[in-house]
Amino acid sequence: MPISDRIEAAIGAALCHASGARAPRRLSGALTHAVTPGGARIRPTILLSVARACGEDRPALSDAAAAALELIHCASLVHDDLPCFDDADLRRGKPSVHRAYSEPLAVLAGDSLIVLAFDVLSRAGAEDPGRALALVGVLSRQTGMPHGICAGQGWESEAAIDLAAYHRAKTGALFIAATQMGAIAAGQEPEPWHDLGALIGEAFQVADDLRDALLDEASLGKPVGQDDLHGRPNAVAELGVSGAVARLNDILAGAIASIPSCPGEAALAAMVRAQAEQIMPKLPARAATA
Ligand code: IPE
Ligand code: IPE
Ligand code: MG
Repeated sequence: MPISDRIEAAIGAALCHASGARAPRRLSGALTHAVTPGGARIRPTILLSVARACGEDRPALSDAAAAALELIHCASLVHDDLPCFDDADLRRGKPSVHRAYSEPLAVLAGDSLIVLAFDVLSRAGAEDPGRALALVGVLSRQTGMPHGICAGQGWESEAAIDLAAYHRAKTGALFIAATQMGAIAAGQEPEPWHDLGALIGEAFQVADDLRDALLDEASLGKPVGQDDLHGRPNAVAELGVSGAVARLNDILAGAIASIPSCPGEAALAAMVRAQAEQIMPKLPARAATA
């Protein structure tokens, strides 16, 4: 089955488990709104690609890991869009969850998705409790404090930002989770997979800064110009557009070079190149030389 179908099936099963006739209907609707249709699903795609490259032997566990990771990502977007954070009206081309369902339901939807992610792992874990425990460990570390996405958002409330720690936690954390959880689900050690995730995360952050600075709301499906609006440090302000593009290409080359030796190494390198194509914003000729 193609990776994208596996991801949608695993997410659909998780949402089904969280809903049902006796669940509060509007909160169920908010969960579905937050998770489907998806965005690029880049994190679970990387996770399943690493699992395959490692010689995946427990596909149900990798599917659960992929769904859990994407649920955490979606939860982070719901909370990030709230008025107390970025106050964004649009996400993935449609109203953000608090605009469609209200602020209380958006807070609860984010909370419910975080809990659902760990529930998905716990239910899939019977198959191999050792691997499941390791998956829970990585996902919780890359989500919470002191180094996960909560820490990343937390840096935005500090008077002085440690830029490297901010980007590593806000964006890098879930990419590190993607590569390490893919390895764990396939029975491999996570440590050798840290750098690939961190480098893809760094590249993704630079690409996101470029998109935020250069694209419009209609093509991005969410508000643009947010880095300048919120006074956030970013690669375009620091390096200019062509400097940021050069940096993105350098990081991607480093990411491909960092892939640990494994049975599916070549296919994994091809996947990283394909994802790089996807995240590289299609720039107008004028902007590319700025
Ligand atoms: C957006 O992530 C949030 C950041 C970390 C910059 P994505 O660009 O992966 O969002 P979706 O899932 O494709 O909508
Ligand atoms: C998204 O961050 C939330 C997290 C990374 C946790 P951003 O605010 O930078 O991304 P968008 O522009 O809303 O997708
Ligand atoms: Mg935001």
